[in-house]
Amino acid sequence: MYKKEVRNICCIGAGYVGGPTMAVIAEKCPQIKVTVVDVNEKRIADWNDENLDKLPIYEPGLKGVVATARGRNLFFSTDIDNAIREAEIIFISVNTPTKTYGVGKGMAADLKFVELCARQIAQVAENDKIIVEKSTLPVRTANAIRTILKATGNNVDFQVLSNPEFLAEGTAVADLHNPDRILIGGNQDEAGLAAVECLVNVYNNWVSRDKIITTNVWSSELSKLTANAFLAQRVSSINSISALCEKTGADVEEVANAIGRDSRIGAKFLKSSVGFGGSCFQKDILNLVYLCNHFNLPEVAEYWLQVVKMNDFQKHRFAKNIIDTLFNTVSGKKIAFLGWAFKKDTNDTRETAAMYVADELLQDKAEIHIYDPKVAEKQIYKDLEYLQTHRVGHFVEQGENMSIAEIKQLVKVHKTPYDATKNAHAIAILTEWNEFKSYDWQKIYANMLKPAFLFDGRNITDENLLTKIGFEVYSIGKGKLL
Ligand SMILES: NC(=O)c1ccc[n+]([C@@H]2O[C@H](COP(=O)([O-])OP(=O)(O)OC[C@H]3O[C@@H](n4cnc5c(N)ncnc54)[C@H](O)[C@@H]3O)[C@@H](O)[C@H]2O)c1
Repeated sequence: MYKKEVRNICCIGAGYVGGPTMAVIAEKCPQIKVTVVDVNEKRIADWNDENLDKLPIYEPGLKGVVATARGRNLFFSTDIDNAIREAEIIFISVNTPTKTYGVGKGMAADLKFVELCARQIAQVAENDKIIVEKSTLPVRTANAIRTILKATGNNVDFQVLSNPEFLAEGTAVADLHNPDRILIGGNQDEAGLAAVECLVNVYNNWVSRDKIITTNVWSSELSKLTANAFLAQRVSSINSISALCEKTGADVEEVANAIGRDSRIGAKFLKSSVGFGGSCFQKDILNLVYLCNHFNLPEVAEYWLQVVKMNDFQKHRFAKNIIDTLFNTVSGKKIAFLGWAFKKDTNDTRETAAMYVADELLQDKAEIHIYDPKVAEKQIYKDLEYLQTHRVGHFVEQGENMSIAEIKQLVKVHKTPYDATKNAHAIAILTEWNEFKSYDWQKIYANMLKPAFLFDGRNITDENLLTKIGFEVYSIGKGKLL
């Protein structure tokens, strides 16, 4: 049976979830040794860098948490076997991307990294362990993990729990410090419930018991996919209305405010934009769609797939509007991109809308000049190069592949917004970084070609002010230029 008081935790996967989550557990539980391990040596070296500005992940507040706990009871290492051996609880927090090959290609979650972790744990473990699914997984994955552990293990008892993470990038530390809820799913027998209680006790160091929900494993696994599907659905719903606003003269922000004041609807997640990005929403919905089809529920699958299709349409609509407005071609024209990250306050660019908009403009031979406060130049080229061979989605799959040499000829990355926008025909705002609001827009306008267009994909700028300066402004859901 599992001891109530845990002293040693290990987390496999030092990414956007594993890193911040374990840093906060270590910060809040100084009596527990927390070791985060990863196969990626560079990532571990960056987590261990003396210079906290070199942490591999940018999140407000993260540096302070790492500074408090690192070297005290928080460790980052590549010695996975040893960390597994020592730990009483092992979190699996590896990536679970959409499959890009074979059965379920483009839809199902690729569980090969999770499976590898399970096999490694089974081979190495010498005493009973609690295995926690922190990664987002299809419902019933715990069964597969259990089967691998049981078949490969050395007569060691493993309890598999589901403990999905609900943090949002950009506010990860605040979300971890003060979560709306913690969800823990476990087997509903004596050993399972004891394991659940162990994990409850860890969180209970800083999260009150009434915020910790315990369920059976399948409810917990499915709740994470459902939560992301509902959140993404709100974005696609308001974005669908933004298209109608532009045709009718309604203002999507006024509509969002009016409906959000209805307490049954609520005000959050009603911001219209160029579309959602990030590593989770699209992949988790596609995973849900795949599961529905697998369980022979095609109508349910189609219902959720539409959320992703709507998001593809919104990115395409934004890019097409830029081309249409710039007199039907952007060939040889300079378009400045402000923002590349998929949202503000993160350096994560996975599935960023910016990448898809860039690709459509590049198909029309635009020159793109990018500035982002936190994303490195090499990451931007990597994203565009990746897209060439992974054309998944309703509009991007129609594009023609470009070589990296062609991309580098047309895409330049700048160190300041003023350099990026100099002599540009148009600006496209792709990320809602706060600093964009405080730029010297007069100066930017003065250095652009006229007429100077601004396409605000996040509706963060002051449209009246920019129009007064002389910009032709297009804000999503307002339809001024139509
Ligand atoms: N990013 C988010 O906002 C978020 C939020 C909630 C849940 N999730 C889920 O959490 C999981 C992790 O997401 P992430 O964004 O942290 O991914 P990530 O790609 O940033 O990190 C995953 C890490 O796991 C490592 N890894 C992969 N296989 C390994 C192995 N066998 N042994 C050791 N290390 C291995 C990789 O090298 C990588 O560093 C995913 O399932 C995701 O859906 C993500």
